[in-house]
Amino acid sequence: MIHHILEILRVNRARRQSVSKDPRLAALAKGDWRTAPIPPLAQGAVTMLLTDELKLLNHLAGDYFSGEGAIIDAGCFLGGSTLALANGLRRHLSRRGLGDQRLIHSYDLFQVEDWTRGIYFPREIAAGASTRQRFDTATRNIAGLIEVHAGDITTQSWTGGPIEILFIDVAKHWTVCDWITANFFPALIPGKSIVVQQDYLFGSWTGWIHLTMEYFADAFDIITDTQRNSVVFHYARQIAPERLRGDLIEQMAEGEARALFARAAARWQGAGQSDQRALLDAAAAHYLEMRHGG
Ligand SMILES: C[S@@+](CC[C@H](N)C(=O)[O-])C[C@H]1O[C@@H](n2cnc3c(N)ncnc32)[C@H](O)[C@@H]1O
Repeated sequence: MIHHILEILRVNRARRQSVSKDPRLAALAKGDWRTAPIPPLAQGAVTMLLTDELKLLNHLAGDYFSGEGAIIDAGCFLGGSTLALANGLRRHLSRRGLGDQRLIHSYDLFQVEDWTRGIYFPREIAAGASTRQRFDTATRNIAGLIEVHAGDITTQSWTGGPIEILFIDVAKHWTVCDWITANFFPALIPGKSIVVQQDYLFGSWTGWIHLTMEYFADAFDIITDTQRNSVVFHYARQIAPERLRGDLIEQMAEGEARALFARAAARWQGAGQSDQRALLDAAAAHYLEMRHGG
């Protein structure tokens, strides 16, 4: 434990240095975006996100984004995250005197999941029915800002160049998480890109997200979070290409997973972080039980 704490103190020092050198990173870390109104385009949107997450995405696309790379909206459901990102992107483009450009890449299966019937859809709708029309209707006024990638993300490949904002709300299985590592992470821009892991503080069944971010912890600094759900990482230092393996979680040994979970949990030892700590512990227990029998 003591060497985890020393390591985390070292990482926090590196983080403070990055943040103090970059005013946009400093603004993101300071968090004034929390007190902004809900982005107008996302008001009334049907979404699984928290209000603070909509504000965060609006801030990232409008105030952090520089235009150097693409914006990825991975897991867009009925367009809530898309609309929040679009709200920010329009602000960015209009500041630069530019019209709409398809810089947001939205990914989804666009199929009704059984558990969402009676919550986001009428109970009578069949699981597997298409949600595409509802997404298209919700995003009709921002169609010129988005490129839609329908279908299983793991059957596709990223060929769109550098990625500046990577919003991940699709890593509901470790195979998707591994696909993201192999396809999106190589396109991140060192010193600039932001990765939002929406499920990092959501539930206790996506431990592969903690493992992945901890495995690459020497490259990423945690900048902020929304207390529940999203954690925001800055891609501060380049990852050697050979480490970006598409079978990272698939092949990870139990001993390595245990060590990475312990280090991840050590980051959430502050006052007022007991809920986050408990969630990480539960995610570790769930993952180890599921993949290694406990
Ligand atoms: C939590 S929801 C996204 C919520 C959304 N960001 C919002 O603003 O409400 C996760 C989405 O991931 C999609 N998804 C899950 N697995 C996927 C896969 N393998 N390929 C593409 N989309 C997937 C689901 O269809 C679902 O809409």
